[in-house]
Amino acid sequence: MRGCFITLEGGEGAGKSSNLDFVRRFLEQHGREVLVTREPGGTPLGESIRELLLDRHNSTISDDTELLLMFAARAQHLAQLIRPALERGEWVLCDRFTDATYAYQGGGRGIPRERIAQLEQWVQQGLQPDLTLLLDIPVGEGLARAGRRSTPDRFEQEQVAFFERVRAAYLHQAQRYPERYRVVDASRPLEQVQRSLAEVLSEWLAQR
Ligand code: TMP
Repeated sequence: MRGCFITLEGGEGAGKSSNLDFVRRFLEQHGREVLVTREPGGTPLGESIRELLLDRHNSTISDDTELLLMFAARAQHLAQLIRPALERGEWVLCDRFTDATYAYQGGGRGIPRERIAQLEQWVQQGLQPDLTLLLDIPVGEGLARAGRRSTPDRFEQEQVAFFERVRAAYLHQAQRYPERYRVVDASRPLEQVQRSLAEVLSEWLAQR
């Protein structure tokens, strides 16, 4: 049986890293073999593309180049890692996927949704996450949390208005695909966020 494909999404400072680990442990405790990966990245080529995309010295990358690099990394990730793992029956937990493209390149940069949808169709050929966990936090709170970290990368150095558009686009995706999306309020203390994640996952596992 094909494995399940779960993605974790969220804006800056939403606590994706700590919660990714929590979700992995939860699924493993419930008997699933989980492959954890990330985007952009997940393969040697994808990780090289990630370096290009995040390097803040690459200030001349055009919006279309950025979009195409995201999908180039994704095509390789799907071919080399995600599809083979799902076919082996493993579960794949991915830190960001195409919803991030709708949020950052669509919402943030203003690329029309149809253009992203064309690439999505080309590269994914219908493959979609079975479950998407969106850690939602008001932009100001998220940036205040993230601000305590090191030197900003090419995305982290964007302005507040950019992140507001990113958040709005994520929430729009969640409304558009309610069957696979679960939105978790990530502005609360970590234990409460993880309690909600555990509830969402238990309910979701029970339906399978
Ligand atoms: P990370 O901070 O979750 O490691 O992700 C790296 C950055 O890449 C983050 O700022 C969001 C951005 N990103 C996009 O702009 N589009 C995408 O499709 C993906 C997967 C990530």
